[in-house]
Amino acid sequence: MGTEKILVIGAGGQIGTVLSNALRDVYGIDNVIVSDIRQPRETVIGVFEKLNALDGDRLLAIIKKYRITQIYHLAAVLSASGEQNPRRTWDINMNSLYNVLEIARQENLHKVYYPSSIAVFGGNTPKENTPQFTVLQPQTMYGITKSAGEQVCQYYWQKYGVDVRSLRYPGLISYQSLPGGGTTDYAVDIFHKAVNNEPFECFLKEDMRLPMMYMPDAIRATLELMEAPIDSLSIRYSYNMSGMNFTPAELASEIRKHIPKLEVSYKPDFRQGIAETWISSIDDAVARKDWGWKEKYNLEAMVKDMIENLMKIKNTGRSSYNESSCL
Ligand code: SER
Repeated sequence: MGTEKILVIGAGGQIGTVLSNALRDVYGIDNVIVSDIRQPRETVIGVFEKLNALDGDRLLAIIKKYRITQIYHLAAVLSASGEQNPRRTWDINMNSLYNVLEIARQENLHKVYYPSSIAVFGGNTPKENTPQFTVLQPQTMYGITKSAGEQVCQYYWQKYGVDVRSLRYPGLISYQSLPGGGTTDYAVDIFHKAVNNEPFECFLKEDMRLPMMYMPDAIRATLELMEAPIDSLSIRYSYNMSGMNFTPAELASEIRKHIPKLEVSYKPDFRQGIAETWISSIDDAVARKDWGWKEKYNLEAMVKDMIENLMKIKNTGRSSYNESSCL
């Protein structure tokens, strides 16, 4: 793997923070260049380049400077913050992807990774056990850009042979990084309140069921997909991928097994409206068949691991995460 040089765009965000470290473990520190629109507050391991993903010239210069062979394009405006300025969300999410794909085509990069989301579903999508091939009628600008992004990725694969691979992440839960501006962020925030013995006010209704995944599973899935033999992949839009699903009430009750005093109140806001357009569980049979996907963490195992790690971090008094780079 010594020949691969990887650029991570949006490396300071919820996924990027953790994925960059995992990529360093696989490819070596010097072979993973991390970039973000903001300089991280904490010292970065390895090489950091400040990059606005809308700046195609600077992106190309970085690709040439380090002889990059793979891009992980993680920068995006998420669902809830995306609704504050839909035009900007469209511009950032679509034009940054276009820059990445065009440069991948021109420079003959080996691979591109593009994260998609359960936000591509909506409208008439079946909500239970949502199939791989189904109606996509996203109702947020974030979901619209992810759905269009999937199509553009498929286009670049079919028309130009750009080896672009993609996963539809459920809501992601991590102790190493904070989410920024999503509808599933409550499922991380609640843990931080719980370990600090503070009450938690949830912006979703207690029975709002959504698909979720623990970050170690999401990172492993990403690496496994990117390592899968090219001929094994039948999907070039984006793979459905399932981990677990739960409601805020179920999550709170699992956390209370470890922290019985946790108090939760419910004050749904506009994010409840977004969540209602999404799905509650997902069928990932194609990912299982094509590249052997299987999750390791269920709700119980995820909650236990999250609390153990956040407690360790609290007891050592250090901050575990960078500021989120989600724009
Ligand atoms: N976690 C994302 C969000 O809530 C969904 O991909 O916006």
